[in-house]
Amino acid sequence: LDSLKDIADMTIDIERQNAAGSELYLDGQELELVSVEVDGRSLSSNEYQLQNEQLILRELGQQHQVRIVTRIHPEQNTALEGLYRSSKMYCTQCEAQGFRKITYYQDRPDVLSKFTTTIIADGEQYPNLLSNGNLIAEEQLADGRKKVTWEDPFAKPCYLFALVAGDLAVLEDRFTTMSGREVKLQIFSEPHNIDQCHYAMDALKRSMRWDEERFGREYDLDTFHIVAANDFNAGAMENKGLNIFNTKYVLANPETATDADFDGVEGVIAHEYFHNWTGNRVTVRDWFQLTLKEGLTVFRDQSFSADMSSHAVKRIEDVQGLRAGQFAEDAGPTAHPIQPKEYIEINNFYTSTVYDKGAEVIRMMHTLVGEEGFRKGTDLYFDRHDNSAVTTEEFISAIEDANGIDLTQFRNWYNQAGTPNVDAKGVYDAEKQTYTLTLKQNTAPTPGQPEKLPFHIPVRMGLVGADGKDMDLTVDGKDAGTETVLSLTENEQTFVFTGVKEEPVPSLMRGFSAPVKLTTDLKAEQLQFLAAHDSDSFNRWESAQTVNRQAMLAMIDDVKAGRELTMPTMLIDQMRETISNPDLDNQYKALMLRVPGYSELAQAVD
Ligand code: SER
Ligand code: ZN
Repeated sequence: LDSLKDIADMTIDIERQNAAGSELYLDGQELELVSVEVDGRSLSSNEYQLQNEQLILRELGQQHQVRIVTRIHPEQNTALEGLYRSSKMYCTQCEAQGFRKITYYQDRPDVLSKFTTTIIADGEQYPNLLSNGNLIAEEQLADGRKKVTWEDPFAKPCYLFALVAGDLAVLEDRFTTMSGREVKLQIFSEPHNIDQCHYAMDALKRSMRWDEERFGREYDLDTFHIVAANDFNAGAMENKGLNIFNTKYVLANPETATDADFDGVEGVIAHEYFHNWTGNRVTVRDWFQLTLKEGLTVFRDQSFSADMSSHAVKRIEDVQGLRAGQFAEDAGPTAHPIQPKEYIEINNFYTSTVYDKGAEVIRMMHTLVGEEGFRKGTDLYFDRHDNSAVTTEEFISAIEDANGIDLTQFRNWYNQAGTPNVDAKGVYDAEKQTYTLTLKQNTAPTPGQPEKLPFHIPVRMGLVGADGKDMDLTVDGKDAGTETVLSLTENEQTFVFTGVKEEPVPSLMRGFSAPVKLTTDLKAEQLQFLAAHDSDSFNRWESAQTVNRQAMLAMIDDVKAGRELTMPTMLIDQMRETISNPDLDNQYKALMLRVPGYSELAQAVD
């Protein structure tokens, strides 16, 4: 790396996989082509073509070695895609299509290659020269430059390639994997920030242990590197063995960082680490499958963070985020399914829908098959598809095959945009001791999708008795314990609970079991009752929020009508109940007590 002659010199061994075609199309953007060689012979410019941002080699045989030299200008790279300069270091960002800004290559995620990377640079200015995999050679050149070689034993698509050159400080630690292998962990940052990397290191070790325990996934290289970069487009990037992060998600100064800052570091460190299996070992066939790795990995990082802190608080915060960001996206002009059918610019599809609704879709499968069934499904998925590039279909099939369930209709979540509305009405018949629950779903048209097929919506629910406890459920003649998951698959469906000895209060969509908007005919007293007694911590909060919102809206009406403003006693009772409850932790209490903000109220007022 030298600003006067930044050269990418790449040699690829290629082998034709099928009889058809003797041409090789390599993607390249903003590159200066210096030379092309095939099997050691330099090609003259009439022996290849440059067209439509591709380098085309023709009349190739079965097997060749192709060497391509390009000149690039990282200093001028302000798009931060490919190789660029950030402060005094060089780094890369290749997802989705940045590698083509380094050299000509088949820049698509289903082309998996083993990379060996040699970096030559001024050793004084850039003592840290990093790439994917394990370090296999290091040498001081006669001209004073330094030369290092990294070898990544795992085949990968080029979007996972990474290179860093800098003069960085390092925080080092070790991790022993479940099979007893030692892994060296290193976090690199600018020297003055290295003291702020301890929390990230701690989060990394916890992530590595958690993925072993919860998903049986072990780390696979001798080293794991994280680099904090000042200039970075996204939050972070899961390059194989060399994650590159926006400093915001690595550095945490204990003097000034807030709880939210620490949680952000923990969540993103975990997310990128978890990609090693869900994204890297099993990658995507094409960019339409982005949610395969992102939805699943967000679900995994959410589950990790929940295990590390409070399940209730984490779930509430994630749902608040989903409603504020993704629901708005799904209701707007750019609404798209988690698996889009077309795109003009893939960079615009790194959306809350693909990530966060994608995670909800994974979570619904988890809800339908349970924790054990889900683990069986992911084990099968990794067994079947390790070292390959697959589609969302392969993931769904693994869950189906491991559990013997049919997710045919469930697949509508992948193809249809929009947030479904679910409406619930219950009728209690004291004489027959039945409770009849009618659920309806409908989804408003979204751009390009005027008609919607019904979704398969898992409705986790219970019926709460007057004593505040969950009743034993018998639904459609079958014993269902005290909590069950109903599958709403029709536009309208009725479920009959029998042996119901008193009028219950239904608690529906527990844990926010589907990304829908639920309306019920529950009265304020019933909501308040759930806020105090529901065994589901999410629904307690949800009910309290509804009570708070309704009270605030009533007060707005009072103001408009010129009536005297009084705090409803119901609200005071609810707050007292929350504050004095010894079983609730303070973070959860804080969420319960929060009154709806301006934007939420504004949306609810005509
Ligand atoms: N793949 C990155 C991530 O989601 C973003 O580009 O972690
Ligand atoms: Zn990701």
